[in-house]
Amino acid sequence: MALSPTRIQAIEKVSQHYISLFGSDSELAVLREQYAMKEDTIPSLVHREKLTAFFFWGAWAAITKRPGEEYTYTNNWPFDPQLGNTPTSSNIVWSILSIITLLAGIGALVWHHASSRHETLPKPNEKDPLFFTKPTRSQKSVAKYFVTAIALFLLQIFLGGITAHYAVEGQNFYGIPLSEILPYSVVRTWHTQLGVFWIATTWLATGLYIAPALSGHESKYQYLGVNLLWLALVVVVVGSMAGEWLGIQQYFDLDMNFLVGHQGYEYIDLGRVWQLLLLSGLIIWLLLVTAAIKPAFATQTEIRPVMWVLYGSCVAIGLFYGAGLFAGKHTNLAVAEYWRWWVIHLWVESFFETFATSVIALMLVRLGLIRASSANGAVLSATVIFLSGGLIGTLHHIYFTGVPTSVIAWGAIFSALEVVPLALIGFEAIQSYRMHNAAPWMARYKWAILFFVATAFWNLVGAGILGFLINPPISLYFVQGLNTTATHSHGALMGVYGMLGIGLMLFCLRGLSTNLIWNDGYIKGAFWMLNLGLAAMLFMSLLPIGLIQFFAVLENGYWYGRSPEVIHSPLVEGLVWMRVPGDIVFAIGGFLLGMFLIDLLKKSFLDKFKAPGVEDLADKVSS
Ligand code: HEM
Ligand SMILES: [Fe+2]
Repeated sequence: MALSPTRIQAIEKVSQHYISLFGSDSELAVLREQYAMKEDTIPSLVHREKLTAFFFWGAWAAITKRPGEEYTYTNNWPFDPQLGNTPTSSNIVWSILSIITLLAGIGALVWHHASSRHETLPKPNEKDPLFFTKPTRSQKSVAKYFVTAIALFLLQIFLGGITAHYAVEGQNFYGIPLSEILPYSVVRTWHTQLGVFWIATTWLATGLYIAPALSGHESKYQYLGVNLLWLALVVVVVGSMAGEWLGIQQYFDLDMNFLVGHQGYEYIDLGRVWQLLLLSGLIIWLLLVTAAIKPAFATQTEIRPVMWVLYGSCVAIGLFYGAGLFAGKHTNLAVAEYWRWWVIHLWVESFFETFATSVIALMLVRLGLIRASSANGAVLSATVIFLSGGLIGTLHHIYFTGVPTSVIAWGAIFSALEVVPLALIGFEAIQSYRMHNAAPWMARYKWAILFFVATAFWNLVGAGILGFLINPPISLYFVQGLNTTATHSHGALMGVYGMLGIGLMLFCLRGLSTNLIWNDGYIKGAFWMLNLGLAAMLFMSLLPIGLIQFFAVLENGYWYGRSPEVIHSPLVEGLVWMRVPGDIVFAIGGFLLGMFLIDLLKKSFLDKFKAPGVEDLADKVSS
C-alpha cells in the first residue's frame, strides 16, 4: 500500500491521539471522562499501538473504493460527505422498495385475514384442566431456575442503572470513583449478557417443565439432569462474568482473554471456554427435553404439528448457538460479525419467534382455550412466515461489512417481510386477552396470559415498528449503533422475550403451586410497572436522543452523532436524566416480581408443614 507523506503524518497524529486517550495522559482526562472510559484503559503501550493499527484498517476499508467500483468496501458507510462517503444508489433504491414490500405484505395478509373464515372459540371447561396434574420430582426442581432467573433480572436492572448513569458522569457514581473497579465496559457487558442469561433460564426451565407434562413420562435421570444442568448454568454465568471483569481490567494476556475473558462481540462476549460450556449446557437441555417429550409424540397426536414446531425451535435454538464458534481468535472482523449475527439474529428473529408462537399455542390448547386443529394450522403458517423473512433477513446486519451490494437488496426486502406478521399480531393479542376471563378458573392464569398479550404488544412496537425504524438501508446508514438501536433492542428484547419469559414462568409456577393462593397485588404491580416503565424509558429518553443523534449525523457526518458535543449537550444530558422516572418505575416492577416469588416460596415452605385439608383449599381455588 502506497501512502503519501501527508497521509502518513495524519495517520501518526491520529494514532498518537488514541495512544494517549487509552492511556493516562492527563491532557485527555476530560475526554476520557466524557467517553466513559476509565483512566489507563489499556496500560500496555504495545496493545495500544496495535489498537491504533486496527483503527487505521477500519478507516481504510471505509474510504477505499473496491477495485473497479465507485463505492468503498463498506458500501460508503459511514456517512462523511467530506471524504466522499455518501449513500450508494442501491442503498436508496432498495430502501424504498423495502417499504413498498412491507406495504404489499401487510395488504396481502389483511386481505387474507378478512377473507378467511373465523372459527368460534371452544367453550372452556368448567374446571381447570391442569389443576390436578401433580408435578413430578424433576418438575418441582425446575422452580430454582425461576428463582435464579429473577435474581439475574434484578441484577441486570441494577447494572442497567449504573450503565445509564455513566452517560452523565463518565467515571463516577455520584462522586464515588466507580470506574476503577467497575468501568462502563464491564457493567455494559454484564447488563447485556444478563439479559440473555435470565431470559434463557426461564425458557430452559419452561422446556424442562412442560416436556414431562406433555408426555406424562419422566426417565429416572431427569431429576438428576435438571439439577446438574442448573449447576452448570450457574458456573457459566458466574465464571463468564468473572472472566469478563478480569479481561477488561487487563489481568489476562490476549490468548487467555480469548479463552476465558471477553471476546468483545456484543451478546456473545463470553470467553471461548464459557461459550463451549454454554453450548454443552444447551445440548444437555435438548437431550433432557427430547427424552421427556418423546413419548408425547405418540400419545398427543392431535397437537403433534405444534409440538414438532416447538421441538424444532428448541433444537435450532440449541444448535445455532454453535454458529458463534465459527469465528476464531484471528478471524477477520467482517467475517466474525457475520457469524455473530447467525446467532443473534437467527435466534431472536427466527427461532425465538417460532418458539414463542408454538409454546403459547400449546399452553392455550392445554388449557382448552383454543382447538388443537386451529392451533396446528396457525402455528404452521406463522412458522413459514417467520422463517421466510427471518432467515434471509439476517443480511440486514451486514449491509456495510464488505459484502457484495446484492446483499443490501436481499437483506432490505426480506427483513421488511419480517414486519408483516408483526403488524397484524394484534389479532392474536386480542384473542388471548379475551380468554383471560373465559371461565372463572381462568383468573388463575390471568397474569400469565396478560404477559403473553404484552409479548404481542411489544412484538408490534419494539420489534416491528422500532425495528423497522432502523431497518431500511438508508436509515441504518445514518443511525447504526446510535440510541435508536438501544430503543429497538430494549423494546424488542425485554418487551418481547423478557415479557414472554415472565409469562412462561407464571404459567409453570401455577402448576407448581396449585394449592397456593398467589399475591395478585404483587404481579399486577409488576405487570403494569414493567410495561409502563419500559414505555417511558423508550419514548421519554432513548428515542428522542436517537432522533437528535440522527439529525446530528445528517448535518455533520456519522462521527458527530457520538461526539461529546452531542452526547454532553445540555439537551441530551437532560434527556438522559429523563430516563430516571421510567427506569425507577421499571425497577419497582422488577422488585415486585421478586417479592411475588419470595411470597410464593414462603407460602410453599409453610405449606409443606400443613396438615391434610389442603385439598379442600385446592377445590375452593379451582372453582
Ligand atoms: C423480538 C424480535 C427482536 C429482538 C429481540 C431484536 C433484538 C435486537 C438487538 C438486541 C439488537 C442490538 C444488537 C447489537 O447492538 O449488537 C438488534 C439490532 C437490530 N435489529 Fe432487532 N430485534 C428483533 C426484531 C427485529 C426486527 C423485526 C427488525 C426489522 C425488520 C430488526 C432490525 C434490527 C436492526 C436493523 C438492527 C441493527 C441495528 C444497528 O446495528 O444499529 N430487529 N435487534
Ligand atoms: Fe436482525
